[in-house]
Formats: sequence, C-alpha cells, structure tokens
Amino acid sequence: MPRKLKKGVLVVLEGIDGSGKTTQARSLLRRLRYRGYKAAFFREPTRGRWGREVKRLAARADSLTPAEELDLFVQDRRENVAINLVPALKAGKVVVLDRYYFSTIAYQGAKGIDTGKIRRMNEAFAVRPDLVVVLDVDAKGGLARIRGRKTRDELFEREDYLVQVARIFRGFKGPEFVHLDGRGDRRSIGRTIWAAVSRLLDARA
Ligand code: TYD
Repeated sequence: MPRKLKKGVLVVLEGIDGSGKTTQARSLLRRLRYRGYKAAFFREPTRGRWGREVKRLAARADSLTPAEELDLFVQDRRENVAINLVPALKAGKVVVLDRYYFSTIAYQGAKGIDTGKIRRMNEAFAVRPDLVVVLDVDAKGGLARIRGRKTRDELFEREDYLVQVARIFRGFKGPEFVHLDGRGDRRSIGRTIWAAVSRLLDARA
C-alpha cells in the first residue's frame, strides 16, 4: 500500500566532495521506496543545460569568476526548483536532493562571496527544505575517497579550498540541520539518517 503524505517532504544531503552523500542519498531512497513512500531523487548541479555548463566551465581552472560561477549555479537551481522540486512536492513525494543552496553558500562563500548575500538570493525563490543532513569529513579524508574516482584534478577539489568549504558547512545552525560524522561506518550513518527522516515522516503522516 503506498503511503500518503499530506504534503511533500524535502530532504537535502550536503557535504564536501567525498563525504559520501551520494551513497547515502541512494540508500535513503531505497529505504523510502521499500516502505511504500513515493520518492524522487534529484541532484545539483543538475544534468540540465545550466548544470552541464557550470560543470564544464568549472572543470577548467579559473575560466569563471566566483560571481559568474554563483550566477550559473543559481540559474541551474531556479530550473531545478521549477521543473523538478515543486512538482514532486506537490505530488506528495519525499524528495531526496543531493546538494542544494547550502552548497552554494559553502563553495562560493569559500571563494569570498558574502554568505548572507548568497543565502538571501537563494531563499528568495528556493523551496525551504524540511531536513538538511550535513555529512562532515575533513578535506583530506574527502579527497582520499574521490582520488580513485576522478581522472583529473578539478578546480573544486583542492584541499585548502575544501577546508574552508567544510568550515562553512559545519557552521549551519537551525532545527532543520543534522550534522553527522561522515567518517563512520556507511551502514550506521545510513541508519542515523533514516531515524531522522522517519521522525519527520511520522510527524507528517
Ligand atoms: P558534485 O555534486 O560533485 O557533482 P558530480 O558528482 O556530478 O561531480 O558537484 C560538482 C561540484 O560543484 C562540487 O565540487 C561542488 C560544486 N558546487 C558548487 O560549487 N556550488 C553549488 O551551488 C553546487 C550545487 C555545487
């Protein structure tokens, strides 16, 4: 029997490269579907035109200024909110999102753009998440995990930069944030995430 929610729920996974959030997003999705929830998975940057563009340009070191980069990520997000997130939430789905505007605050903030300004420009149009899980790993640990996965050094993956990014992620406060140690066992992190999500779903049932 499919489980019905009164309204959709938006769960965001955040963390630096190599924090394990994509793996956790997939396992969360499996748990949700197994229990009969209608669930959808999206990621940012998206595979749409803006998302592909920013990934292509960002892979070439210094081809974009931080302000141009910010602009492209926000354009991509506008499209994602309108085309993917809002319709899925309206349909009462549990939406699992791999990165959202907290990534922009952390990554573009670490390049010197005012974090308050980034937050305001995003919150002017972006749906507010119900839960934001931040997986915390140190930059070295994150880089070690993705070393085998990436074929070339990408701009975004420099250690000193990721140290700053991780610091901004750690600073997010509020009732919607859950900070978890991303170095732990994958399964036990998965269970902790599931506990937080099921509390939220029970409250919404
Ligand atoms: P990532 O999630 O790693 O995508 P993929 O797994 O497809 O490579 O995102 C690519 C990079 O983009 C990553 O280093 C984080 C960065 N990023 C930003 O700098 N700002 C943003 O707003 C977002 C969404 C991502």
